[in-house]
Amino acid sequence: MRKKIVAGNWKMNNTFEEGVKLTNEIIELSKNKTDKNVGIILCPPFFFLQKCVELIKNNSQISVGAQNCHSEIKGAFTGEVSATMLKSVGVKYVIIGHSERRSYFKEDNIFLSKKVKQVLATGLFPIYCCGETLPERESGKLFDIIKTQIEGGLFDLSKEDFLKTIIAYEPVWAIGTGVTATSEQAQEMHEFIRKLIIQKYGSDVAGETTILYGGSCNSKNAKELFANKDVDGGLIGGASLKSQDFIDIVNSF
Ligand code: 13P
Repeated sequence: MRKKIVAGNWKMNNTFEEGVKLTNEIIELSKNKTDKNVGIILCPPFFFLQKCVELIKNNSQISVGAQNCHSEIKGAFTGEVSATMLKSVGVKYVIIGHSERRSYFKEDNIFLSKKVKQVLATGLFPIYCCGETLPERESGKLFDIIKTQIEGGLFDLSKEDFLKTIIAYEPVWAIGTGVTATSEQAQEMHEFIRKLIIQKYGSDVAGETTILYGGSCNSKNAKELFANKDVDGGLIGGASLKSQDFIDIVNSF
């Protein structure tokens, strides 16, 4: 279902103590001060997921997501974590295909498509990331790149499964750089993605798909980005590590 969402991807940041402090601050700041129609998803590192679920218990606005999972359910995959394990501690969402996974860990669309299917088969919800690099944008290949990532990772899902999937457009050149996509650039790509969905699944499904923007989104630029008709919220990195900044983004619709 299409929903306004602000998700915080903590990446590899925060010790246990820092995670508790940040989560408690976000819970406190969100009380009575945020629009309850905006869903908040916290995506801490694996070791903190269970504690995060415990801290947000009874909070209907905040959910917990993982930053990754493996495509298999169990077995000899040293260092990996499965969707079933995530579900067993109360995780609801899983980020799949973040550009840092694609580039540093060489995850390709075929592997990511398997992960997405496993997440859905487990009853969790994928947040599937796509995004082009600066050379890809500058050479005019940006739309082809996004099309390939979306088709390769998602387009063999059934309509029902696709409807459970959130998409995050995160231009690689905007991640952690302080250079945000302009409002026009974000809208242009979100609209392109929604058109791809219309062609594949029809306009009803496309109209129900949540598409988030990520990449140097902060409390100063979120309002302008979220005002676009095809931008349903944000996947926030750096600014999700400071409670007030994060809540200010939640309040940017
Ligand atoms: P920044 O907000 O730090 O640019 O990171 C965005 C991101 O990668 C979220 O997944």
